[in-house]
Amino acid sequence: MDKYQQIFENNRRWVEEKTATDKEFFEHLATGQEPEFLYIGCSDSRVTAEELMGVEPGDVFVHRNIANVISNTDLNAMSVIEYAVFHLKVKHIVVCGHYFCGGVKAAMQSVDLGILNPWLRNIRDVYRLHKAELNAIEDEDLRYKRLVELNVEEQCINVTKTAVVQKMYLATGYPIVHGWVFDVQTGKLIDLNIDFDEKLHDIQEIYNLGTNLTKE
Ligand code: CO
Repeated sequence: MDKYQQIFENNRRWVEEKTATDKEFFEHLATGQEPEFLYIGCSDSRVTAEELMGVEPGDVFVHRNIANVISNTDLNAMSVIEYAVFHLKVKHIVVCGHYFCGGVKAAMQSVDLGILNPWLRNIRDVYRLHKAELNAIEDEDLRYKRLVELNVEEQCINVTKTAVVQKMYLATGYPIVHGWVFDVQTGKLIDLNIDFDEKLHDIQEIYNLGTNLTKE
């Protein structure tokens, strides 16, 4: 059986497994979704959002693109955030980067990559913002890993810049924005422990997008 056909065989087995423990598994799924998480990650085939988190269908709203970038002119990403926060009322938004990210690696090189240039420029901007710290790291692999982490942090800030996240958080205490890195080499998920409340208050001086947004 070739890999293409194998997928349908896998799916048949998966349906069997799911319904063996819960007959109404799919009927229940069809009634709607109430995920508590929005996961924003890289499209990389090795970083399988649900599998690495050990979650089930219905648990996580997912958005993936090259190098987990959140750009304010990206209608797709902005719509995902708006829908997840305002309509689904997710409690946590996770930006998950990963070591050995091809997108981040490409952004560290002086190469013209055509249509990928404007996309990867978002990561070059992260490099520029943190140039002093990154240039001080002599080992290239360590500098690359650090850029992966800093990219996650900056994309968390980009999520926090949106009006819907600011308004909902200050009104309800949710969603909380988290930064993670998945280590492809060990399979481990690393929480960067970003202090979301502090980050929000840091950026409010410039990016405040609502009224009465000062929280004591
Ligand atoms: Co990647």
